[in-house]
Amino acid sequence: MKWESLYSQAKQWVNEAGERIRQSFNQRLSIQTKSNANDLVTNIDKETEQFFIKKIKEAYPHHKIMGEEGFGDKLDSLKGIVWMIDPIDGTMNFIHQQRNFAISIGVYEDGVGKIGLVYDVVHDELYHAFSGKGAYLNETPIANLSETAVNKSIIALNATWVMKNHRIDHNLLIPLVRDARGTRSYGSAALEMVFVATGRVDAYISMRLSPWDYAAGAVIIEELGGVVTNLRGEKLDYLTQDSLFVAKPGLHQTILQEYLKDGKW
Ligand code: IPD
Ligand code: CA
Ligand code: CA
Ligand code: CA
Repeated sequence: MKWESLYSQAKQWVNEAGERIRQSFNQRLSIQTKSNANDLVTNIDKETEQFFIKKIKEAYPHHKIMGEEGFGDKLDSLKGIVWMIDPIDGTMNFIHQQRNFAISIGVYEDGVGKIGLVYDVVHDELYHAFSGKGAYLNETPIANLSETAVNKSIIALNATWVMKNHRIDHNLLIPLVRDARGTRSYGSAALEMVFVATGRVDAYISMRLSPWDYAAGAVIIEELGGVVTNLRGEKLDYLTQDSLFVAKPGLHQTILQEYLKDGKW
């Protein structure tokens, strides 16, 4: 397996797909709902996923593909090389704002992250990492993450989780929200993860995400010394949905021990 050429080819495909998405901005979108009225998908999400699948199948017929919009393979194992694709992460932002969304692609070998690509299409910013070879924002290396105290940290999370909801006891996150310097919510898990990677925020929490949401971001964060787990502090398995908790080193442990340990996540 020639990882170097796969890495540069994947970056090229992401740039090409991003250009197509930018071109679509003056076209009329076809918008459909999925599991509920706020779970949206557009023709561009679907076309972008199909674009990647065609490229990957042509170049790497033996690789497997997991894609949010369902055009990939049905996987029950992560053996071999698996591409985990979210063609547009932040579809709601894409539709409403035409910004704050990203293409997110993780390439894994036997369940281990090798390559992570998160492309902020509107700002033309590609966050990328090849495991063991550093993480970059476009051509610029991203610095390793350092420790931060809770009272000096900004935590990215969605307001839904501190409201009464069917998934968790909403009171559980209140102490963390109170003690942190601030909270932010951007509406794209992939971007929120690379914001942790670049130190724009210090941690990101979500109660429920899918492997294609965090596969790419996880490679980038781990390459910089950040920690990626679910809210119980366990490793993710990349085959099923899970909660997500990513943070700078040290901060991850502090939040886990002092704020999250009593939750039934
Ligand atoms: C969504 C975004 C959002 C997160 C949702 C995801 P999508 O992905 O990452 O920030 O809160 O849980 O499903 O559907 O826009 O690809
Ligand atoms: Ca979606
Ligand atoms: Ca997503
Ligand atoms: Ca998506």
